[in-house]
Amino acid sequence: MSIITNDEEGIKKAGKLLREGRLVAFPTETVYGLGANGLNEEAVKNIFITKGRPQDNPLILHIADKSWLTDIAEEIPEYVNELMDAFWPGPMSIILKAKTEIPRTTTAGLDTVAIRFPNHKIAQAIIAEAGVPIAAPSANLSGRPSPTNFRDCYNDLKDKDVYVFEGGETDIGIESTVILCTSYPPQILRPGKIDADAIKRVVGDVIVGAVDKTVVRSPGQKYGHYMAKKPTLLLDMKPEDADQLLEKIKPNAIFISAEENKYQAKENIVIGSYFDPDQAAKHYFKSLRDADMMDGDMIVIQGFSKEGIGEALFNRMKKSASGKVMEDKDEDWIC
Ligand code: TXA
Ligand code: MG
Repeated sequence: MSIITNDEEGIKKAGKLLREGRLVAFPTETVYGLGANGLNEEAVKNIFITKGRPQDNPLILHIADKSWLTDIAEEIPEYVNELMDAFWPGPMSIILKAKTEIPRTTTAGLDTVAIRFPNHKIAQAIIAEAGVPIAAPSANLSGRPSPTNFRDCYNDLKDKDVYVFEGGETDIGIESTVILCTSYPPQILRPGKIDADAIKRVVGDVIVGAVDKTVVRSPGQKYGHYMAKKPTLLLDMKPEDADQLLEKIKPNAIFISAEENKYQAKENIVIGSYFDPDQAAKHYFKSLRDADMMDGDMIVIQGFSKEGIGEALFNRMKKSASGKVMEDKDEDWIC
């Protein structure tokens, strides 16, 4: 791994390397992405190999201007213009019918493609400099929490043949909302900062989650995700109920908690107020990686308010806990 410094020269270097088919990790407003020239099959294949990513999990193409969209997608419904005007640049990935020129390695064999225009100065400058759409999954090794800062990117990629741009901390902390836009109403496949209400306000209606559970619409959603190395349990309850429960069982745990929690575990990592899921989302993935470096048998996560980004945060937390979720009513749950 080589580091690219955060300056004008670094941006030029990153753009050139990407254009030439190399892998470059860089920050966006959501999480760090591991970028490659999205039109170069070999470069894209290298992303899958480097991350250990299942071959059937498609990538998002990142663009530096809305005008690039029509070179990538076709049969674009009218309402997509309204979504782009409302949320781009920003944490929204839209899925449309892919032009035949888009490599099927990028789309994992699908005839649709996900596209995002990130709202981050460094990301925009690097993609513009590259001059080609950049395929970029989150820059973690497959299954691990997405990196939200340079350190976490570095730790996952240090043994790999890649470049990492020294881009500081990301702002939102969890990945973009993924929306299937091939028909109306659009369908949210992965929740994010832009929630169902915000989309509804712009286009009138939206479907949330899978309509037919037997069809995997967003292949990434079926794999283990966002996982720490230690066993992890999520408490889907108010801080006072979590405190009472933990007081009873006294686990030898690291507690990823809210400001409102009173229980003192072996280690507490406070990620924000229960009522401020934006703040918690920003710090959540880093807290999992921090917890892995601390002394303790397991990780217990406090659930946060599900308002706004809170639903997306809860979705990530549930996956981190591989479904091991304890609700307040769930008296005889065994972990
Ligand atoms: O915020 C983000 O979206 C970050 C930053 C780097 O932009 N990227 C990111 O990429 O989270 P990744 O690869 O970790 O997640 C992409 C998700 C996966 O769940 C994938 O299955 C889904 O988007 N996806 C991509 N293309 C798709 C398609 N054509 N149809 C259905 N799902 C698709
Ligand atoms: Mg990912």
